[in-house]
This record gives sequence, C-alpha cells and structure tokens, in this order.
Amino acid sequence: MNLALQLKTLYRKFPVCKSLALAACLVLGTASAHSQSPSAAIHYNPQTHVFRIDGGDVSYVFGVNAKGQLQSIYWGQRVAATDSFPAAQARPPWASFEPSTDTTPQEYIGWGGGFYYVPDLKITFPNGNRDLVLKYVSHTIHGDTLDVVMKDISLAVYVTLEYQIDPATGILRRSATVENKTGQPFTIEQDFAATWNLPANNHYQLRYLTGRWAGEWNLQKEALHPGKVVLGSRTGTTSHHINPWFAIERGNPGDQDTGAVWFGALGWSGNWQIAIEQDQIGQVRITGGFNPFDFGYLLKPGQSLRSPYFYAGFSHHGIGGASRLMHRFELTRILPEGPHPKLRPVLYDSWEATGFNVDVAGQEKLAEEAASIGVERFVMDDGWFGERDTDHAGLGDWWPNPKKFPHGLKPLIDKVHSLGMSFGIWVEPEMVNPDSQLYRKHPDWVLNFPNRPRSEARNQLVLNLARPDVKAYVFHVIDHLLSTNDISFVKWDYNRNWAEPGWPAVPTDQEKEVYVKYIRNLYAILRELRARHPNVEFEDCSGGGGRVDLGIMRYTDEVWPSDNTDPFDRLSIQQGFTYAYTPGVMMDWVTGSPNWVNHRVTSLQYRFLSSMEGSLGIGANLNKWTPQDFATARKMVAQYKTVRATVQQGALYRLISPLHGSEYAVNEYVNQNGKQAVAFAYLHSSQKGWPFPHIYLRGLDPSATYTFRMLDGKAYANTPASASGAYWMHVGVQLYLRGDFQAALLELDRQ
Ligand code: GLA
Repeated sequence: MNLALQLKTLYRKFPVCKSLALAACLVLGTASAHSQSPSAAIHYNPQTHVFRIDGGDVSYVFGVNAKGQLQSIYWGQRVAATDSFPAAQARPPWASFEPSTDTTPQEYIGWGGGFYYVPDLKITFPNGNRDLVLKYVSHTIHGDTLDVVMKDISLAVYVTLEYQIDPATGILRRSATVENKTGQPFTIEQDFAATWNLPANNHYQLRYLTGRWAGEWNLQKEALHPGKVVLGSRTGTTSHHINPWFAIERGNPGDQDTGAVWFGALGWSGNWQIAIEQDQIGQVRITGGFNPFDFGYLLKPGQSLRSPYFYAGFSHHGIGGASRLMHRFELTRILPEGPHPKLRPVLYDSWEATGFNVDVAGQEKLAEEAASIGVERFVMDDGWFGERDTDHAGLGDWWPNPKKFPHGLKPLIDKVHSLGMSFGIWVEPEMVNPDSQLYRKHPDWVLNFPNRPRSEARNQLVLNLARPDVKAYVFHVIDHLLSTNDISFVKWDYNRNWAEPGWPAVPTDQEKEVYVKYIRNLYAILRELRARHPNVEFEDCSGGGGRVDLGIMRYTDEVWPSDNTDPFDRLSIQQGFTYAYTPGVMMDWVTGSPNWVNHRVTSLQYRFLSSMEGSLGIGANLNKWTPQDFATARKMVAQYKTVRATVQQGALYRLISPLHGSEYAVNEYVNQNGKQAVAFAYLHSSQKGWPFPHIYLRGLDPSATYTFRMLDGKAYANTPASASGAYWMHVGVQLYLRGDFQAALLELDRQ
C-alpha cells in the first residue's frame, strides 16, 4: 500500500490520526493490524527528536542531538507509556584529550572528527581522505521497524540504520547499510552493524562463550574495567574458539534468575568481531559486525553493503531470563520454520558406529535396530560418496560410491522408510579433497594465493564459495542429490578453518570481498535448497559446534553442538550452549561406553538422560548392544517423547549448575502451555554420604496443583503424590541419588 492510501485507510479507521504526528499514526495502524502483538511500538517525538522503541518488557530510547548525532538515551526495563524523555544533549568534553564525540554515547559513528573508541564505519576514499562524520538525515517507521538515514557532512555516503523490535521478547535486530552515491568507488575497511551503549557503572560482569574442538561452550565471566575486550573469529567461520554472543550483568547477582542483564548475538557465519569497551568515564560500548582484520570491500558508485544483523536484548530476570528470551526469540523469529518449528524427531546417526565403513547391508542392519527402539529418523553419516574410504579422498564428489551402493541410495532409503523412519544424509559441500575428481578438474576452485602453499587440514581444502561457478556447482550437486533421492534431512558439515584466503580470479582490490561474498552465497544456497525442497530439514554442523550463530540458524533446523559425546562432559557443554541458543535445536547423541573422549564408563540410563536435554539422538554402535540395552533404550525413547515438547520449546531454569567442578547438576523445563514441568538431576560421585542438594523448582503456578512422578516409578518418602506449585517451589523435593554418575528425571503434571 502506498503512503497516501495507507493514510486514507488510517484516517477512516482512526479519525484521531488527522491530529496526530504521522509516525504515531502509522504506529497506531500497525498495532491494530498486528493485534496479536500489541505490545510493540515505535514512536518519534518531533519536538524532542527522541525515538522510543518498546517491545516485550524493554524500552530502547535514543535521540538526535543538536549536532545531528544519534545519541543513546536509555535501554532497559520498559517504562510507563506516559513517560517521556527529554531531548538528547551532547555531553561536554572531559578535557582536550576526551572530546565531546568521545564522551557522548552514540548509536553509530564513522571514524572521523577525532574518535578514539571503536568506530562503526571506516572508509578510505580515492583522494586519500579517511575522515567520515555521519549525521542524521531522516527516518521512516513501518510496523515494528525503524530506518534512520545518516549521511556524511559533505560526501554522498549514506548509511541506513535498521532497528527491528520483536514485540514478544523486546529483542532488537540492528544492521547498517552503507550506500555509495559519491560517483567514485571507495573502500570500506571497517564495517559494524551497531553500537549498543550502557551507562557508566563500575560493576559490570561480562560473560561469553569459548571453546575448542570437542570442548566447546565454556562460559567465561569477568569484571569489565576501562579498556577493551575483543571477541572475534578470523578462522573464516564462526569458530569453536569464541561464539558471537555476550551478556553483561549489572552488579554480581549470584542467582541465575535475578538482576539486570544485557545480552546480544551476531547473525554472521564468517569472520566476526564484538568489541566490549569501557571508556575512560566508565560508559560501555558494544560494537559488532564483520571482523576488521584483513577486511576490505570496494564499494562502487551505486552499490551498497549491508552489515550482518546484530541482535540484542535486556532481561531483569538475570542470565536465566536472558537465555529464556533468546530461546523464545530463536524459536519464533530466527528458525526457518518459526514461529512454530516442528519438534525434532528422535534420530539415529551411523558415524560413531561405522565411521567411513558404510554399505547397504551394514546400514540396513543398524536401521532395523534403530527402528526397534522408537527412532524416527535414520541418518547415514560420512563415507557413502565418491572414493570416500578414509578422510583422504572423496569430498567434492557427491554421488554414491558404486562399490558400496551398486544400485544407488534407493534400496537403503526404501528400507528405512519401510521401517517407519525418515532418511537423512551427511554432506560437506564446501570442501574438497585434493584426491577427488572435482579437484583434479577444478584446482582453481579453492581459496588460494598463486604460487603459495595450499595448507590442508583433515586432508581437505576450502572451496571458494564466493565464486559464482563454485556456488552454482555446490547448489546443483546437492539439489540433484535431493531431487533424485527421497531424503528428508541433510547434516551439512564443515570440517576445517580457512588458510590462504585468496581469490586470484578477481582484481586485487576486490579479493578481500571473499569474507562477505562466501557467506552470503552459503546463505543463498541454503535458502534456495530449502525453497526447492521444502520438506527437507538441515542440521548445521562444523566438526561439532564450529559454526553456530544466528546467521546460519535462519536456514537450518538443528545444530550439532560438539563432537564430544561424553555424557558427563555434555552436561557443561550443553549448558554452555543454552546460554545463547535454544535446546530446541541442540542435537545430543547417546553413544558407546566407555566413551572415546575420556574413556569414562557410564550407564545407558545416565547417557540417555544427559542426551534427553535437547533433541535426542542415538549414535552408539547398536550391534554391540545387549537385549537389556535395547529394553532400556526403548523405555527411555518412549519417555523422551512424552517430555520433548517441554524440553525443546519450554522455559529452561538452571537450578544447579554443573560448572566449576560441581558434583551436581539440575535443569528444569516448564512447558509453554504450563501443563508439564520436568527436572533432570545428575550426580557425579557421592562423597561421605552427603545428601543430594534439595531441589526448589521454579516457573510454576503457585496456586495450581501438580502431580509428582519419577522416571524410575519409585515412590519417594516424604514427597507427596500431588501438591501446589507453591509447595514444589518452596518446600521442594529431596532426591536420593547415591553412587557415581547417577541421574534421575522428575515430572510434575498440572491438574
Ligand atoms: C564431523 C562431524 C561428525 C561426523 C564427522 C564425519 O566431525 O562433527 O559428527 O559427521 O565429521 O566425518
């Protein structure tokens, strides 16, 4: 609808609009059009030049000050609709060394005019000028989105800042699009999506997630001090090492569910950076986007470059509340099937059972065994294609190995279907082994610098997806696989980092665009594959959790968080994961004991309970299981199906953390419909007969009645068969776990 028509309709519906500011009027119309989300609003006050964005329990406020800068005013718990904010006023300089530009918290700032913190945008112009001073030009409000246009004081460099608010969670999505209207090309050297500002305060605690292969998702915590913490990746991908997520607590609340927390995450699967900087007067700026290391994007006249999305939110229910908001946001606004993503089926994966040694008979036998315990999806992992007998060959040749599958994949897929399961397959399409038909034909298709070594990792090289021919090949070869076989799930793997990121086929001044174009093409391939094969689901995997972020999650249905399948290690790995990402996408396998990582021996029930805290998978070699194992597995899989909606899409409360050498761990999940709550409890090793800590549940309706039951069906002395929510939250439950690696599952059902 054009603006005139939109206004006419609005005036008819809301005669009051004729006397209101245009922006407020459009908001009124939008609120009515989206009556299911009435709590979002974006207002602009033309008198004070203040923008106010409300959503969920959050208000976000900034204004245009007299210098034309976009000045941050407030971000935190929602304030009354009647509250108004005075006009933004640039702060005075502290001294000649700290100019007003530095003391004034700004939403987005170019490098120019004397600025000593992290600028959002840095450009080199053809005449050598590197000064860029951006000022407010105009804005538009449409529904839940606000666009603010800024322009340099003399050059026709335009930047459009987009703010989009999620009405339910109050999480904002920000990005910046730089447009070149100067008539000459220029090079962007640093390009961030946004700066988020927090007021001066000396007691901020920063949390972030670090890791390595098979050891991802370690939650770090440190006090912020004046200076800069730079989180980022230069691996070409999101990386196992640091994940693009942060949270900042005010004070040191000591409880998961209390206190003010600001949190955010980048939606980008390539080199990224988030800098958290506390300035000399104690203010905190969080700036994130493309990693500026080795960055260079030649923007020709008429072209534009959009930054990655930077998402951020606020919770006054502590870090626990922050995760619950992220989980809801991801389920409803990020995942491709949102706002109502399907529950994840119980999956079997052949990798740990058969390695590269796959063939029809072996896979069919595993499929029969998997079906017998209630598995819903059978996935054939690596080893089925090209000359893939080890990890030395085959990547790039995505057709069934004729010796292993003489009649193609159909007989196996038919067999899997006849057992009542859907069929999934492993691929790693962005990679090539030098020992492959693809590489022999197209050695120029990989990332490389001419006449320099091509460093292999896991005997493979990275295809340069930024090249149009490589993009087309990868799309077509996977499209063909999916078009010619009845496949409903693709495990999309990515098993190395970049080296020698050269792109010799393009002019030298455009080579560094590979960092942007590779990832954009990856997203485009996944988007197009999903469009052409709407019934196929995708798992995002990168040697475990090497590429988990809100960018790739827009195109994938689930995530493999770690190759580490030790069920005890998994407690902390999975917990770390859930600080940023929903258990609704987290695939967790039950594998063999002793486990390959630590050689730890655990019971099958313990392994199942650990893996039931997300999307349950089984990756054990079923040929080695006893009849008793199958009986246990059948029972556990059936139990999982009764709680999976609660675990995958409910509200998570971390009651006792497994971190810092804790002997205990307890996580509770409350179903969105409020009808079921479950709690998983784990004991590492009893010592000196100490009782298991008392459990106080959370998130229940105090006046509702809940019945209590344990997975093992045993009656618990001193625990009533039913009681009020208030009882379970205040009197709680005493579990009797003793021994090593013990686990239990308790369930409360609302009457
Ligand atoms: C990666 C994955 C594993 C498995 C192997 C196969 O390491 O994370 O789950 O698929 O590749 O080579």
